Amino acid sequence: MERVPEPELMEEKEQVISYDEADFSEGEVNLINQINQYLLKKNISLSEKDLIVDLGCGPGNISEKLAIKWPYTEVVGIDGSKEMILRAEYNNSISTNQKKLKNLRYICSDIKDIKSNNFLKKRISLLVSNSLIHHITNLEDFFNTIKSLSSNITVNFHKDLKRPLDEKSALELKAQCSTKYNEILTNDYYASLRASYTLKELKKFTLENDLSSLDVFEEGENYLIVYGNV
Ligand SMILES: C[S@@+](CC[C@H](N)C(=O)[O-])C[C@H]1O[C@@H](n2cnc3c(N)ncnc32)[C@H](O)[C@@H]1O
Repeated sequence: MERVPEPELMEEKEQVISYDEADFSEGEVNLINQINQYLLKKNISLSEKDLIVDLGCGPGNISEKLAIKWPYTEVVGIDGSKEMILRAEYNNSISTNQKKLKNLRYICSDIKDIKSNNFLKKRISLLVSNSLIHHITNLEDFFNTIKSLSSNITVNFHKDLKRPLDEKSALELKAQCSTKYNEILTNDYYASLRASYTLKELKKFTLENDLSSLDVFEEGENYLIVYGNV
């Protein structure tokens, strides 16, 4: 199936509310556990000196879980959508875990502009994104960003949807989604599936752009992971 790009930022209020109100907690908990396993394998334990950055953080579900899992680190969630950042800050303010979230802050910025800002004072130890890559129109913008934000201590972990093989498979996934989520979210999910990249596209990009230190692999039938040091 040909890739059909979608807008990068999720800026419409209704879209943001639908996304925020959906329960993705099972996948989010799995993601945190998976990152933890990778860090353990590398003998990395994160502490006060460490900075974790969550790119395309949306309403902050994953940023919050990162901040709770590694309470002594500093966690920064970044999103280019003002509406999403307002939502993330609101969620933080009403969280029952608010006391545990003192190490978390949000920044509204397009990922392509982060390098020109100086709001990240430390080197990043863990650079994470979930469901971001498919929003980025040109792969080089995503990889240039993670390259410019990474140093030799940075572990990258980026998870995203994988583009289905054909339209029929995309429509089947859309139908499954519609049994759990509302129409706005279902349509967004379908647009996301069509905008996603394939394993081949991500691998080709990393191999051709001196990024072969990154592992790119499939997780299950529907997801891709980019993991490692840049
Ligand atoms: C599908 S949501 C994922 C949110 C969150 N990571 C999660 O897993 O719940 C994608 C988010 O990436 C943001 N985004 C897309 N392109 C971006 C860009 N170029 N710069 C910053 N944020 C971006 C969108 O605004 C949106 O909030």
